[in-house]
Amino acid sequence: MPFPPDFAWGTATASYQIEGAVDEDGRGRSIWDTFSHTPGNVANGDTGDVACDHYHRWSDDVDLIASYGLGAYRFSVAWPRIQPDGRGAANQKGIDFYRRLVDRLVEKGIKPAATLYHWDLPQALQDDGGGWQNREIVERFAEYAAIVYEALGEDVAWWITHNEPWVVAAIGHRTGRHAPGLHAITAELKTAHHLLLSHARAVEAYRSTALTAPIGISLSLAPTYPERGTDADRAAVDLSDAYVNRWYLDPVFRGDYPADLLVLFRERYGLDWVRDGDLPGIAQPIDFLGVNYYARRVVRAPEPGETAEFPWVDSTVRTPEIPRSAMDWEITPDTFTDLLVRLDADYGAPPILITENGCAIADQVAVDGEVHDAGRIEFLRGHLAALEEAIRRGVDVRGYFAWSLMDNFEWGEGYQRRFGITYVDYPTQRRIPKDSARWYAAVARRNGIG
Ligand code: FCB
Repeated sequence: MPFPPDFAWGTATASYQIEGAVDEDGRGRSIWDTFSHTPGNVANGDTGDVACDHYHRWSDDVDLIASYGLGAYRFSVAWPRIQPDGRGAANQKGIDFYRRLVDRLVEKGIKPAATLYHWDLPQALQDDGGGWQNREIVERFAEYAAIVYEALGEDVAWWITHNEPWVVAAIGHRTGRHAPGLHAITAELKTAHHLLLSHARAVEAYRSTALTAPIGISLSLAPTYPERGTDADRAAVDLSDAYVNRWYLDPVFRGDYPADLLVLFRERYGLDWVRDGDLPGIAQPIDFLGVNYYARRVVRAPEPGETAEFPWVDSTVRTPEIPRSAMDWEITPDTFTDLLVRLDADYGAPPILITENGCAIADQVAVDGEVHDAGRIEFLRGHLAALEEAIRRGVDVRGYFAWSLMDNFEWGEGYQRRFGITYVDYPTQRRIPKDSARWYAAVARRNGIG
C-alpha cells in the first residue's frame, strides 16, 4: 500500500473561478473583472460575476466536500476582498468570509490549504505602476499575506504563496490570453521576477509569525520531450524546460536562474530589474513544493528561418493515437511519474503536494439525471497510478488535490470547459456529483486506487 497513512486526499478551487458576488461586502475590483468584461477576451463573453455563487453557497459546498469524505480542501483568498485597493487596512467583511469557511472546514474534519494569490490582483495595483511589473508590489504582497496569516492563523494546514507564476507571467503578460492581457516579453520577465521575490518575502513574513503549518508555492510544471531524438531537438527541450520549469524551480530551490536561458535573456532584454542579492534571497527554505500537473510538452528544434528557439509541437495534431482532453491537452499519465522522479532527484527530495491535477470533459447530464464521466475516472486512475509509482520510487508525496471540486469559470475558456468532479448546472446552481466524485471518494476512503 504505497500511499502513506496520513496522505491527504483533497480537491481544489480558486476564488475568482467560483465565488461570484463581485460587488459584495466591500470587495474591490480585480484585474479579472476588468479583463472578463472586455469583449473578446473570454469565450462566450463569460465573466466571474456569478460563477458558482460559492460566496453564498459556501456552507453547502463544504457539506459536499464532506459528503465525499475528503480530508483536505484547497481554496484561494481573493486579495480584493481583503484589501479592496491592494493596500492599507483590512476589510473585515472579506476576512469574515474566509474565517467562516475555514471554521466550517475544520469542524468537518477537512484540512484547509489556503492559496494567497490565484490571479485576482486588485485592479488598483495594476493601475498603479503596472501591478506585478512594479517592484513595489513585493511589499504590498507581503503586507497582504501578513493580514491573512493573522486572520486565518493556526487553522490553515498548508499555505501556498502563489499559484503558477509561469502562467501569470507568460499568459497574462506575453500571450495576453489572461488578465491583465499584455503582450510583452519584458513585462513577462519582470512579472516573473517580482512574483518570485514576493513569494520569498511572504515566506519570510510567515516565519516571523508563531505559525508552524507548512508553507510552499504551487508551480505549473510540464515534463518536456523531444519530437525526434536529435541533438537539436534535445537542445530545444533544454531551453523550453528552462523557460517553463526551471525559471521558477531554480530560484526557489537554488537561488539562481537557469544559466543557459539567463545568458540569452540578459543579452536580449538586459534584465536590469534583477538586482544584486535578489536571487539568493528568493531561495527561502520552504516546507513543500506544490505541483500542478496537466500535460507533458513536446518540443522540436526550429526550422531554418524560424524565430522561435523551441517550438512546441504538442498543440498541433501530431500523434492522433494519444488521447486528449476537452482542452486538447494530451493525456499521458506516465510522464507525471517522470516529472516527480526528476523533481525529487534535482531539487533535494522536497516534500511534494500535488496541488492540482485533472481534466476537462464535455460532460452532460444523462437521462437518468447523473453525469457519467468515465473519461475523467480513467484520467484520475491513470494519474494516481503514476503518482503511486513515483512514491514507490521514493518520491516524498504528501497529498493530492483533484482539480476541481466543481465545474467553474475556466479563465479565458469561460464556463464551456468543465473540470469538476461535481457538475454545476449554472442556471439553477444545482451541484450534481459526477461518477468521478463517487469513484474518487472511494479512493480517499480506502487510501488506495483499488
Ligand atoms: C490551472 C489553474 C487552475 C485551473 C486549471 C485547469 O492552470 O491553476 O485555476 O484553471 O489550470
